[in-house]
Amino acid sequence: MSQISAHISDLRKSYERAELSEDASHSSPLLQFDQWLQEAVNAQVNEPNAMTVATVGNDLRPSTRIVLIKGYDERGIVWYTNYGSRKGTELAGNPFAALQFHWVELERVVRIEGRVERVSDEESDAYFHSRPLDSRIGAWASPQSQVISGRGVLVANAAKYGAQFLLNPPRPAHWGGFRLVPDRWEFWQGRKSRLHDRLRYELHHREWLRERLAP
Ligand SMILES: Cc1cc2nc3c(=O)[nH]c(=O)nc-3n(C[C@H](O)[C@H](O)[C@H](O)COP(=O)(O)O)c2cc1C
Repeated sequence: MSQISAHISDLRKSYERAELSEDASHSSPLLQFDQWLQEAVNAQVNEPNAMTVATVGNDLRPSTRIVLIKGYDERGIVWYTNYGSRKGTELAGNPFAALQFHWVELERVVRIEGRVERVSDEESDAYFHSRPLDSRIGAWASPQSQVISGRGVLVANAAKYGAQFLLNPPRPAHWGGFRLVPDRWEFWQGRKSRLHDRLRYELHHREWLRERLAP
């Protein structure tokens, strides 16, 4: 084992950069998210648009992976993927999911929960066609989450679809967007002495109820 294994429990830091108060936060969680995402981009944190997506399979086992947020508005949070992937099949069986952003440098976390739906074909088409050519070919070349015999399968598939579609690959039917429609958000700001700030927003009769949670 490496040296770190003996010392991993000593790794800790104090969070002291900022605070999150009821007075200084938005009453709309979407606006609060918009502000924090903008601040994460301004602070040049690494991959501010990367989020964890948690889904639960038919066997009730949760699973997570990281994807990139590609849109957000009053309707929800959008990302793109292969509908036949593990996450895609889990969402087909159970549409409830959870998202998480961790902006380490800002000592901030956002958690978002809700029901997931597919975005419209028009929306998926528009985003697909905005992607670079190799990404569009990649969507054809990778049977995401399937077992493959080796890397050569991907290289061969990419060559095959590249030759077939040339500069204009259409969007594969198995590839498109998901939108999580939030009914619960949480904003976490690290504070000194582990007395962190946590504000949770829950949808009650179409109004957002904001409550403070103990850290
Ligand atoms: C920073 C980052 C961004 C990623 N973005 C996406 C994405 O937008 N869509 C996607 O399908 N996979 C993305 N991936 C790959 C996923 O994490 C994951 O490997 C893949 O979606 C298969 O997950 P699944 O087998 O659980 O369905 C990204 C990975 C990283 C590290």
